[in-house]
Amino acid sequence: MVVAEETKATMESLDDRWSELKAFDETKLGVKGVVDSGATKVPRIFINQSQNADSIIEPDNAAGFGFPVIDLADGLDKHDPLKRERIVEEIRDASEKWGFFQVVNHGIPTACLEEMLDGVRRFNEQDPDIKKHYYSRDFTKAVGYYSNFDLYISPAANWKDSFHCVMAPESPPPEDLPAACRDIIIEYTNHVKKLGGSLLKLMSEGLGLSSDHLTGMGCADTLAQICHYYPPCPEPELTIGTPKHSDYGFMTVLLQDDVGGLQAQHQGQWVDVPPTPGALVVNVGDLLQLISNDKFTSAEHRVLASRAGPRTSVASFFGRDSRTNMKVYAPIDELLSEDNPPKYRGTTVTGYNELVRKKGLDGNSALLHFRLG
Ligand code: OGA
Ligand code: NI
Repeated sequence: MVVAEETKATMESLDDRWSELKAFDETKLGVKGVVDSGATKVPRIFINQSQNADSIIEPDNAAGFGFPVIDLADGLDKHDPLKRERIVEEIRDASEKWGFFQVVNHGIPTACLEEMLDGVRRFNEQDPDIKKHYYSRDFTKAVGYYSNFDLYISPAANWKDSFHCVMAPESPPPEDLPAACRDIIIEYTNHVKKLGGSLLKLMSEGLGLSSDHLTGMGCADTLAQICHYYPPCPEPELTIGTPKHSDYGFMTVLLQDDVGGLQAQHQGQWVDVPPTPGALVVNVGDLLQLISNDKFTSAEHRVLASRAGPRTSVASFFGRDSRTNMKVYAPIDELLSEDNPPKYRGTTVTGYNELVRKKGLDGNSALLHFRLG
């Protein structure tokens, strides 16, 4: 029977796909290993026709949108109230309308940013036998390297390898961090923690709350660093670096190098987040959209694969913890009224993280799961 034949063929191709995913995973060398082996074509497991179509129907990207760049000079402390007021206003506006902005004069020395990106490159380009040692799919570990956290559940693998470490509330013993980037991760994390706290204070004020409201709720208490490495891709139109998703913590601070490829959704279009020397990208995560009752927006974004590269980036996620964090986060009382009833039920950081991990980056926001009504 034709149907039975077709079913058999589908089962066989699923079996093949599974074997190919497993073989790829077992190399422990990620996408970089595929490129180093001399691949001139994108292997099947990375090909996704729908992402491909999405990438090809590229809107006119410039589209007249000026991606928001906010100058934090003199605004991080309260010494210059007028400047601070302007900055709060710009952050509020960008967090509402874009969910994304870049910051300059943020206080982290450029040399530290450059060394951090170099560290990511050193880790990925080191002796494969040392790097393999870190490869793991156990995401409850504080430190690990992997390719595609959702490898076995997503429709197609992404052209990217990642290294992650949970740095707060506790950081791992330094010797657990790879020597290739140990010192700089510690230094960069100290800077990012401080900046994250300052940004959350500005966001609190932007929501009309007291400066310490968000940090007081613990929004800056957990921090995971995820360092990405996007090897050059021989056929970038067939795959993607990171598919469309929103971030699931409270806020992300992203450091990217000068290769480009990061895009954010704005008014239904993909807009480039232009690499800007010395700048950091900041975006609102799902949990901040939830507690702000939709006042701030967690915008979808993606990273295109590219013939150029490797591209490196470091995403610092506030509100993403691989260990248990059972505090419940719900829309903030002070923001609610009769006209603005809660739009979400509460969730824990751990519960939200687990849901996203199980779901993978399937293009749907996990926020919908918590939406009331
Ligand atoms: C992420 C992310 C973007 C990048 O890690 O969630 O969106 O530029 N990264 O790597
Ligand atoms: Ni992201």
